[in-house]
Amino acid sequence: MSRAFYRTYRPASFEDLLGQDPIQRTLREASKQDKLAHAYLFAGPRGTGKTTTARLIAKIANCDTRRKDEKFRKLGEPCNTCQQCKDIDEGRSMDVIEIDAASNRGIDEMRNLKETIRVVPSVSAYRVFIIDEAHQLTKDAWNALLKSLEEPPEYVIIILATTESDKVPATILSRAQQFYFKQAPLATIAKKLEHIAKKESIVIDSEAIELISATAEGSFRDAESLLDQLASFSSGPITLETVELTVGKIGFDKIFEFSELLLAGNIKDALAYLSSLYETGANMVQFTKDLIQHIRRVAVLHYNPDMNESFAREVMNDHLQKLEHQATHFNDKHIELIKALIEAHGQMKYSKFPIIPLEVSIIESLSTQKQVK
Ligand SMILES: Nc1ncnc2c1ncn2[C@@H]1O[C@H](COP(=O)(O)OP(=O)(O)OP(=O)(O)O)[C@@H](O)[C@H]1O
Ligand SMILES: [Mg+2]
Ligand SMILES: [Zn+2]
Repeated sequence: MSRAFYRTYRPASFEDLLGQDPIQRTLREASKQDKLAHAYLFAGPRGTGKTTTARLIAKIANCDTRRKDEKFRKLGEPCNTCQQCKDIDEGRSMDVIEIDAASNRGIDEMRNLKETIRVVPSVSAYRVFIIDEAHQLTKDAWNALLKSLEEPPEYVIIILATTESDKVPATILSRAQQFYFKQAPLATIAKKLEHIAKKESIVIDSEAIELISATAEGSFRDAESLLDQLASFSSGPITLETVELTVGKIGFDKIFEFSELLLAGNIKDALAYLSSLYETGANMVQFTKDLIQHIRRVAVLHYNPDMNESFAREVMNDHLQKLEHQATHFNDKHIELIKALIEAHGQMKYSKFPIIPLEVSIIESLSTQKQVK
């Protein structure tokens, strides 16, 4: 079987680590100056580069080329070609120990940490412990770790990775350099998918790439896995329709068109649009959820146009412009529409006829809106 995209396309250098600018810059600078810390905490949402960055640090610490070539070292990157770098990439290095705190084996490994940490590196400069899913560690494990962090041997680097940093004890936090990873901007994910598609000779529409990226909600891994899955089972080009059917989500353009009808108070065309969407087998609950999110963004932009900076991370640039334009037509009365949609969404989840609560809420909120006018 071929390698999963998310493994093939794991960033091999800080240069390739996307959407995490401050982290990337700080760590690369530290690497240039050879000033690595003994303990790091990488926290943040899934699929944003925590494990990837931990391995980059491991390579920086042990790369042979860096040790031999001062000029190369100043670039602040691993060489990715020496034996050390290759072994780390393949998970074969004796001195880079990855512990999955969520697994049984992880629990045993944590129990022995105090002893294993004393073992001097076999062939490398550093022994690097990467503790993944660190929020799952037991109290005993944290205690063992704390002891190790209080006086780490010169040759040890401990990296904790977690999606739930609030579960990490303060005593641990204060001893580690902390980095908080962010959800990746949609456009950045889309760009990486485009790059992968090109490399893998996958023919895919840009709307399809956008919808995959939106579905991933800031996770590179989710986006890459979805592309992988779609590419492996579709023979022809990957279209927006293919993605819509696979993920049960509707692309931006249709949600936009429908929201235009709602904001214009056009009940007649809105009902027809809804019905034709329903006939295509669209997931109406998910559609309503995405619609609420869409109109919520329009509302927020209406009352605070500066929020466009924050939304720029969540939607494509041309879509943001459409949202900003809609925001100029938004008015206080539309708040009732949002409320009605939220209520409908709650009812739809349990209804055998999910389209009905949606239709009723649209008719009710838009017809009363007309009377007020
Ligand atoms: N910042 C990034 N830039 C480019 N690609 C990325 C980035 N983050 C993640 N990826 C892609 O996603 C894959 C998974 O990333 P990684 O294992 O580093 O995620 P993680 O943050 O450790 O997630 P989890 O919390 O689920 O363990 C990588 O192999 C890579 O293909
Ligand atoms: Mg990880
Ligand atoms: Zn190397």
